[in-house]
Amino acid sequence: MDIQKKTQALRDQINDHNYRYYVLDDPHISDSEYDGLFRELQKLESENPRLVTKDSPTQRVGNKPLSSFDTITHRIPMLSLANAMDETELRAFDARIKKGLNTNDDIVYMAEPKLDGLAVELVYENGLFINGSTRGDGNTGENITQNLKTISAIPLFLRTDVHDTPPLLEVRGEVFMSKTGFKKLNKMRKREDLPLFANPRNAAAGSLRQLDSSITAQRPLSIYCYEAGTIEGITFDKHQKFLSALKDWGLPVNPQIKKVKNIDEVIDFHHNMEKQRDLLPYGIDGTVFKINAVAQRNVLGIRSRSPRWAIAGKFKAQQVTSVVVDIIPSVGRTGAITPVAKLDSVHVGGVVVTNATLHNQDEINRKDIRIGDNVLIQRAGDVIPEIVKVIVNKRPKGTSRYLLPKECPSCGHEVFRPEGEAVARCQNLSCPAQMKGRIEHFASKVAMDMDGFGGQLVDQLVEKNLIRTVDDLFRLTFNDLIELDRIAEKSAQNILAAIQDAKQTTFARFIYALGIRNVGAHLSKVLQQEFSSDIEKFMSASLEELETIDEVGAIGAKTITKFWSDPSNVEIVKSCLSLGVELEMVQEPKSHALKGKTFVFTGTLTKFSRNEAKTLAEAHGASASGSVSKKTDYIVAGTGAGTKLKKAKELDIQVLTEEEFLVMIQ
Ligand code: IVH
Repeated sequence: MDIQKKTQALRDQINDHNYRYYVLDDPHISDSEYDGLFRELQKLESENPRLVTKDSPTQRVGNKPLSSFDTITHRIPMLSLANAMDETELRAFDARIKKGLNTNDDIVYMAEPKLDGLAVELVYENGLFINGSTRGDGNTGENITQNLKTISAIPLFLRTDVHDTPPLLEVRGEVFMSKTGFKKLNKMRKREDLPLFANPRNAAAGSLRQLDSSITAQRPLSIYCYEAGTIEGITFDKHQKFLSALKDWGLPVNPQIKKVKNIDEVIDFHHNMEKQRDLLPYGIDGTVFKINAVAQRNVLGIRSRSPRWAIAGKFKAQQVTSVVVDIIPSVGRTGAITPVAKLDSVHVGGVVVTNATLHNQDEINRKDIRIGDNVLIQRAGDVIPEIVKVIVNKRPKGTSRYLLPKECPSCGHEVFRPEGEAVARCQNLSCPAQMKGRIEHFASKVAMDMDGFGGQLVDQLVEKNLIRTVDDLFRLTFNDLIELDRIAEKSAQNILAAIQDAKQTTFARFIYALGIRNVGAHLSKVLQQEFSSDIEKFMSASLEELETIDEVGAIGAKTITKFWSDPSNVEIVKSCLSLGVELEMVQEPKSHALKGKTFVFTGTLTKFSRNEAKTLAEAHGASASGSVSKKTDYIVAGTGAGTKLKKAKELDIQVLTEEEFLVMIQ
């Protein structure tokens, strides 16, 4: 056989085996035989590069890593599903359907497991896989075509043995990682000292969102398809027929999907799935029921975010008992102190649980959770396991109420709990546990705006002990940076230039960058005006002085004074200033026409951008905020204004056009 025919025959064989394996669930050869064929094709193609075709199974990992994902707008929005929490709600759904269809006849549904993965859309044009995207916000998602191509279960072209290829087929499905694939992956990561994924869903999501598709290619991902987007050239009157066409085209469909003839069969399916869920090779978090007849679907239509013709049946949260072996306070990246219960390890829903979050002191008090207690643990879906309650009659003798320490477990500085807040925090700028988080925030775009400071760079700088506190950023040298992984001369110079540039900043940016609790971007600007960009004055402001500033209030004033009462915080700020940080004087407002007023700009403005509008408002003494609240005085709404405008109307806030706004400042 000539080489060209031989490579094509091998490609066909491999694609057929994929189809048997993923769609028919009926493999005819072993994994190692499959690997043998694959290697043979690779060898032939590498010896004869001109024979490589775009849709060859060897070309699944193609291009260079991306720097970011493009977006793709879904032709038809990707909806979500309304939930039924129990049998009663499933029956209520069925009753609603009958009422909507004005019938007493039984409704035929397709019953499907609700896969716990990531929804994606695949687009095939004339049978060829063109692109694929995440669900995103439902309207636009990320273009993850490169990564989807690495998933062998996704055919690069559709089979034509039964149906012709439609000019356009958009199909939706769930990308997931099997339970065994997940275990293997984590085992490997543990050996390599890499952080472990919490569950198969996170592992699947993390794998799909890789910019480098060669990483995705190493992850055991699969897919089941379950809905249509736009289809041209062929129509289906039943969902069942659509699913069966998908299989004929070579797209995997979950073999557990079943037609059910009435609501009793719906309930049976739901209970059966709940019983079986631990035995399934992949994670599911419920069931989905969809009306089979497309004509009935069309009568019912959709709500804003979910179809009326489908529902997700939720499983009960899974509960088991365990013992609290210890309670450990941990400090998060933002200084929040969160107590974590260490448990005797238990299996809940196929996952080993050893920790449960206790949230905060109030939560511990409310449930009176003590070290040594027998407790009921609950795991619902993706969320971190929780303690439902203490089994008090099993409480051992000699336990005592648990109190969070008054000092930060990481740095030993005093912990502060702002009034009215549930969470206690460490406000120390030099707390090691918060180092990475604080530095990332300090350097970020909205704060000091140091270009090129991503999480990876910060991780390295902290791990190599090059920075301990934010002022150390201004001490970095070329030699420090060039030592780091993946930093070449040019990027070291760029980073230094970005740090140098960032030194010329404003009071507002600098204060915001410090990450003082309650002092967000907006309040920083208010403070800038109040203290006329004088940081010394701000650092020594008294509680009373701060309290009188409208937007600071009693709670904010306490947080701020507490922050400055820590001498190490003052020292770090002084050190930044002596290392060259300069807070330029921000111009006095052009007028006080809008003094004390808060504006929200929303929608598309035509005379200026939203940012320009904000600056304009600020120049006339107003403050601009990103969200509508009772404190908002005016909302300026451009075209396409949505939820903010709605909320403003509910709160009876005056709505202005751009023109009306301009009149106010003229
Ligand atoms: S259908 C028009 N079917 O659940 C309905 N979704 O809450 C669109 N999901 O975003 C979804 N298994 O990620 C459908 N068999 C299934 C599903 C399923 C899992 C997920 C999917 C979707 C979410 C909706």
